[in-house]
Amino acid sequence: MRIIKTKNYDEMSRYAANIIAAEIIQKPNCVLGLATGETPEGIYKRLVQLFKQGDIDFSSVSTVNLDEYKGLERTDSHSYYSYMHNRLFKHVNLNEKSINIPDGTQRDVKKACEEYDKCIQDLGGVDLQLLGLGHNGHIGFNEPSDRFIAKTHCVNLSSSTREANSRFFSSVHDVPMQAYTMGILNIMKAKKIVVVVNGENKADAVRESFFGSITPKVQASILQVHPDVTVVADEAALSKCKF
Ligand code: F6R
Repeated sequence: MRIIKTKNYDEMSRYAANIIAAEIIQKPNCVLGLATGETPEGIYKRLVQLFKQGDIDFSSVSTVNLDEYKGLERTDSHSYYSYMHNRLFKHVNLNEKSINIPDGTQRDVKKACEEYDKCIQDLGGVDLQLLGLGHNGHIGFNEPSDRFIAKTHCVNLSSSTREANSRFFSSVHDVPMQAYTMGILNIMKAKKIVVVVNGENKADAVRESFFGSITPKVQASILQVHPDVTVVADEAALSKCKF
C-alpha cells in the first residue's frame, strides 16, 4: 500500500486525477470503477479539464460505478447516475453504452445483483477502482459487519451513513433505506485501487482502515492485503497516523 500525503483537498484531487488520466492514456479501453460522494468531486472536475484540453480521451473507456440507491430512477436528481452524469459523463466523450451503474429500480434483488456481477465479469474486470472512505470505514456501501460480502448485494444503510449522506437530500428522512453495492471481492479484484480521503473528520477512519487490524468491522481494512493500492490523503486525514 502506498500512501501519498497531500497538503490539501485540491492537491489530493489533482494527484488522484493524474493517476486516472495516466491509466486512460496507457490503456485507452480501460475499465474504470467509479465512486460518488463529496470526496471525488474535485477529481471529476480535473478529469473534465484534462479532457477539454485534449489530454485524455474517454471514447473507448468503460465505467462501472460502485453503488446506487435502491428505489431511485436514474433520472432522480439524487440518484448516483445523476451525480455521475452531472459531474463527469455529460462533459466527456464516454459512450453511453459503456456506462454501468446498478439498476436502482430493479425490485428483484437477486436479478439486480447477478446482472451487475455479470456486467463486471463481461467487461473483464476493473482496471482501476476509485474509492472514497466512509466515516465508519465503509467502501462502496459495504457497511461495518461481522463478515465481508463478496459480490454485489443489497444493503440496509446504517443510520450513520444515512445521516452523513443527508447533506445531499432535503432531510435524513429522504435518504433511501437501501442501496445496491459492489461487494468486497468485486472491489478487491480490481487490478489497481486508488482511495481518496480528506479532512480531519476522516482521520479515525483512515487510522483504523490502513493502520489497524483487518476486520469486517472496518471494511476498508481489507485493502491492506491488495497488491496495488494507493491512498491519496490530505494532511488532515492522515493527522492521526504515524508513519
Ligand atoms: C460512494 C461510495 C461511498 C463514499 C463514502 C465517502 O459511491 O461508495 O463509499 O465513497 O461514503 O463519501 P464522501 O466522499 O461523501 O465523504
